[in-house]
Amino acid sequence: MKPSRLFQCQACGYQASGWLGRCPNCGEWDSFKEKKDKLEEFNFDLPEPKTLSQVDFQEEPRFSSGFSEFDRVLGGGVVKGSVVLVGGEPGIGKSTLLLQVASNLASQNKKVFYVSGEESPPQITMRAKRLNRSLPEVYLLCETNAQVALESVKENQPEVVIVDSIQSLYFPEIPSLPGSPNQLREATLKIVEIAKKEGITFFLIGQVTKEGQLAGPKVIEHLVDTVLYFESSLSDLHRVIRSVKNRFGSTDEVGIFEMGPAGLREVENPTSHFVSQSLERKGAAVAPVMEGSRTFLLELQALTNRTFFPNPRRLSLGIDLNRLLLILAILEKNVSLRLFEYDVYLSTAGGLRLNDPAADLAVLVSVFSSLKDIALPGEMIFLGEIGLGGELRPVPFINLRLREAAKLGFKSVIMPKYDKIEAEKPIKLIFKKNIKEVLGLLLENG
Ligand code: TYD
Ligand code: MG
Repeated sequence: MKPSRLFQCQACGYQASGWLGRCPNCGEWDSFKEKKDKLEEFNFDLPEPKTLSQVDFQEEPRFSSGFSEFDRVLGGGVVKGSVVLVGGEPGIGKSTLLLQVASNLASQNKKVFYVSGEESPPQITMRAKRLNRSLPEVYLLCETNAQVALESVKENQPEVVIVDSIQSLYFPEIPSLPGSPNQLREATLKIVEIAKKEGITFFLIGQVTKEGQLAGPKVIEHLVDTVLYFESSLSDLHRVIRSVKNRFGSTDEVGIFEMGPAGLREVENPTSHFVSQSLERKGAAVAPVMEGSRTFLLELQALTNRTFFPNPRRLSLGIDLNRLLLILAILEKNVSLRLFEYDVYLSTAGGLRLNDPAADLAVLVSVFSSLKDIALPGEMIFLGEIGLGGELRPVPFINLRLREAAKLGFKSVIMPKYDKIEAEKPIKLIFKKNIKEVLGLLLENG
């Protein structure tokens, strides 16, 4: 029997037994090519498998990016010869971050290439000016032809190459459009090959796009060593960079930056951004919260006013409104308070967006403190998730949270009972079973 021919769409991989003008799967035009898959006669030397302990092992050489927040997410610095994908929505600050990294590296006398297919040299220079950076050792290459750009890299042998963005690079001989999955994969494969062969580190900027012609960075995540995402999950001003894949480190690290008029600044101590310094703590309670593996303290502020309308207002900034409603319902059930007579406004300091249920108790206590007009002890923090019955529930990473609070000089913490807590803390632990006990204690003190 004559073997049947196989055609494959170069854009999505769809296979058909005959040539098609348009792919029925992805809708791409003129993307079918015949697939030849004759197996060669097998004539290889079989490799000798080794046990792990027989493998010669060396830590990869690393160097600093000049930002400790960025180094942390990379697992302790930039690994020589690695390929790092930095994804994020347009306008989040990817180009800004990597231009600053480029400038940091250049000032360590590293030869850095900045390959841009998105902006012209004057635009990039203008941004650098805005960042107060002179970039003597950063070589700009405004090029969209992948072959030209990569040949130039091989020729000039920089130590670090930044590609802004990977979607803008394309190979003219590949039939797919620039930015299509095929182009993206091809360019990334070539880059990985060069990185490993020549020991050059690549940072690839990947635009995250909603729908449309451009393929998102997901398409190449499996090809690169490290995948980082840059987002504004913490607040509008803050930028969080987190790792979702890292062959050279753990993925639960996050780095925190703040966007300002002169670019990104590292936020090494997030607590200072999210706790106000006022001594008066009426209607404000502090909770130790987590973002990735970072702990910091966050102040929650509540304001309650008598309402003159049948429907009281509930407003929440930074915390899910449903969570606030739930906590108010629990408060009302457990103490004889007529909450429906009050408007309740809640906000997190610094505009932080919070998902950590560990702050439940602090939310409740701040509302209570505002309602009763009692001041909370300034050096006390509140920790714990609240169950519907008003019981306090433990939250993970308790030791990390307590360590951070102690480091910042807080003296006591009200929290649910834990069996195992690392001893020897300068911070006093006050265990409470439920919110009744907590509020009772506050009334005694207040
Ligand atoms: P950019 O790095 O161009 O984002 P991306 O490459 O992820 O698309 O940053 C764009 C935004 O950052 C832009 O809206 C303006 C802001 N920005 C500042 O606030 N301060 C600065 O110093 C710079 C350079 C940019
Ligand atoms: Mg950009």
